Amino acid sequence: MKRNTLENLDYRKVLVAPSILSADFARLGEEIRAVDTAGADIIHVDIMDAHFVPNLTIGPPVVKCVRPASRLPFDVHLMLTNPRQYVRAFADAGADHITFHIECGDGIDETIDEIRRHSCSVGLSLKPGTAASSILPYLSKIDLVLVMTVEPGFGGQSFMSGMMPKVTEFRKAIDKIGLPIHLEVDGGVGPDTAGIVTKAGANILVAGTSVFKNPVGCREAIKMLRNA
Ligand code: DX5
Ligand code: ZN
Repeated sequence: MKRNTLENLDYRKVLVAPSILSADFARLGEEIRAVDTAGADIIHVDIMDAHFVPNLTIGPPVVKCVRPASRLPFDVHLMLTNPRQYVRAFADAGADHITFHIECGDGIDETIDEIRRHSCSVGLSLKPGTAASSILPYLSKIDLVLVMTVEPGFGGQSFMSGMMPKVTEFRKAIDKIGLPIHLEVDGGVGPDTAGIVTKAGANILVAGTSVFKNPVGCREAIKMLRNA
């Protein structure tokens, strides 16, 4: 059966994207299968280069190995100084969607084109200190905006509620332009903060710790996020 893509997901529904950064890496395939079965909509994959952010995670070979574990879209979040040169490798490994940062060192238009050339949908993300205005000019060229609610680099940090005006600013801009663009929030999202995020206008919730490390189990955790 064909894999699903972000373009096929409902833009008006709350979608849950577990971040595998908080999964047990010794059982990564099983962990992905478990959140898929538990009702996740998207698998969020955090890629870090120890340069753009002070942490190092996984590369294309690991993504390729776990790809058969689920047919859900793989939403690959590139926290890399030079994302463009890695687009092909992640697309070949099984990414359906690739998000990169507006603060990266590569040309934005060139990187968007490279992602499209490899038949993935495109996202742009911004760090907490970066204004929404940096991404607004690219809105009509992308499929997703990712607002960071922690400084990118690590799971398990505290949610920055001060980012909600930025989320609302994007919501208004997306509604005004009238294009199908997902609005995703990443960092410190759990049952206590998910409602604030959706009220501000986001439709995709990335959640690592609150899904994979939740004592109630991932099924209940995903349900709580969706209904928060
Ligand atoms: C942070 C990553 C996030 C992170 C979220 O740089 O982009 O996806 O894993 O983890 P939690 O939900 O634990 O904040
Ligand atoms: Zn992420």
